[in-house]
Amino acid sequence: MLELKKVSKIYSGVQEIEIFNEADLKVDKGEMVSIVAPSGNGKSTLINLVSGLDHCDDGSIIVDNTDITNMNEKELTFYRRQKIGIVFQFFNLFSSLTALENVLLPAELDGKKRVEIIQTANELFDKMGLSDKKNKFPFQLSGGEQQRIAIARALINSPSLLLADEPTGNLDQKNARKLFELLKELNVSENVTMLIVTHDYALAKEYSSRVITIKDKKVVPYSQY
Ligand SMILES: Nc1ncnc2c1ncn2[C@@H]1O[C@H](COP(=O)(O)OP(=O)(O)OP(=O)(O)O)[C@@H](O)[C@H]1O
Ligand SMILES: [Mg+2]
Repeated sequence: MLELKKVSKIYSGVQEIEIFNEADLKVDKGEMVSIVAPSGNGKSTLINLVSGLDHCDDGSIIVDNTDITNMNEKELTFYRRQKIGIVFQFFNLFSSLTALENVLLPAELDGKKRVEIIQTANELFDKMGLSDKKNKFPFQLSGGEQQRIAIARALINSPSLLLADEPTGNLDQKNARKLFELLKELNVSENVTMLIVTHDYALAKEYSSRVITIKDKKVVPYSQY
């Protein structure tokens, strides 16, 4: 479902930094894969490349049989809306929108009418255990609640691939575990393929189908680290 083939990425500026050198990765449909690697090794870069927010210098990134490295910006926007859900480390919820409005937004941007999607949104709120929080604004919610809203928002368009960059980064151990439990449940019930960046190896190992890392500018199984 996701394949990186000989992907290279260099950030050029005052100094050139090579992040990936012919990196390969294959993720099958329905897998829940966690990435654990030291700071600066390229975890966020990997998420950005797969979401098409950043471009690689060489190689190809195939998602559902389509090479996204050949897409123009318009096609990439469409790809992001239709195929993937992204959960950012700092939630990125809109503070002037309620929880429900935040969750509905990607679907409305995709041209869907509220009546068509409200049921899906309600079901997501139920799954997140947040049915009573729909009309709250982000500042009225705890960090864990905001994070679950961000996940609901990432899932509203029924993506086939969920990308999450340190979704537990701002949570305490108890809420981090709850979040992984929830992701695992969604992975199984919705058959969403997941790529999750985390610094918590123990949780990653417990809940994911496998843990990978970034070493020597390649993506490798965590055990080789
Ligand atoms: N737009 C950019 N321009 C230049 N260098 C960048 C850019 N984005 C990231 N980098 C550099 O690339 C390296 C990898 O960054 P990245 O954000 O992918 O790391 P990370 O593994 O996500 O780290 P962390 O765990 O701290 O979030 C870092 O050295 C960073 O400074
Ligand atoms: Mg990062």
